[in-house]
Amino acid sequence: MTVHFIGAGPGAADLLTLRGRDLIARCPVCLYAGSLVPAGVLAHCPPNARIVDTAPLSLDDIVAEMKKAHDAGLDVARLHSGDLSIWSAVGEQMRRLDALDIPYTMTPGVPAFAAASAALKRELTLPEVAQSLVLTRTSGRASSMPDREKLATFAQSGATLAVHLSIHVLAQVVEELTPFYGGDCPVALVYRASWPDERIVRGALADIVARAAETPMERTALILVGPALASEDFRESALYDSAYDRRFRARGER
Ligand SMILES: C[S@@+](CC[C@H](N)C(=O)[O-])C[C@H]1O[C@@H](n2cnc3c(N)ncnc32)[C@H](O)[C@@H]1O
Repeated sequence: MTVHFIGAGPGAADLLTLRGRDLIARCPVCLYAGSLVPAGVLAHCPPNARIVDTAPLSLDDIVAEMKKAHDAGLDVARLHSGDLSIWSAVGEQMRRLDALDIPYTMTPGVPAFAAASAALKRELTLPEVAQSLVLTRTSGRASSMPDREKLATFAQSGATLAVHLSIHVLAQVVEELTPFYGGDCPVALVYRASWPDERIVRGALADIVARAAETPMERTALILVGPALASEDFRESALYDSAYDRRFRARGER
């Protein structure tokens, strides 16, 4: 018996890996993390599967479900939104499973920032404009930010920022970033990227708060900030330059 942690993707049911889909289809128990996991993903569960929404459960309750399945010899598909590697609370579940000697696997998923980039039709790193993407958040009720991870610290780099879990404090994010990026720095708010009710608000640090007021967004939204979001005159990548010598294409070869 194994618990399979699976990244269920950002929302659209077809943004699920084939491996994730196949695991869901063969697990008689499915534990999923609330409304952020779409019904279309749960539709891959086998008939008669035990399907449990874990949103109202505590960690103890969730682990008890896993233990019950383990004792019955039943594999579990454990679904979290987006990818598992960021803000999915799988770390604490795996630690409990280690203590109980219950085996598990991890299957990655499409993260929200990638879905937001696709919704915007923008690459988040551009030559000589931004070559780093910082995935971060602000302090919340459940987790405070380590002192060394303040927004201002990341902002000093000028990198593209993908600020999660923070749409409710947009004005505060703008205030902290403006001294570093300037008021004309592009910002995009992407609400429920890849869901049918996806919404996008574009603007600059100077006016994004006012623009957001016209299109209220709550919770499931990303704040993307940085010059790469609007840059048009960036240099082309050297990788596809005909003068660039690379392993599979000699210099000058088309
Ligand atoms: C608990 S985190 C989960 C992140 C997820 N594990 C991932 O890989 O993207 C939830 C936050 O991710 C962002 N988020 C998740 N899904 C999103 C979506 N479809 N569109 C925009 N933002 C999303 C929001 O900032 C939300 O507050």
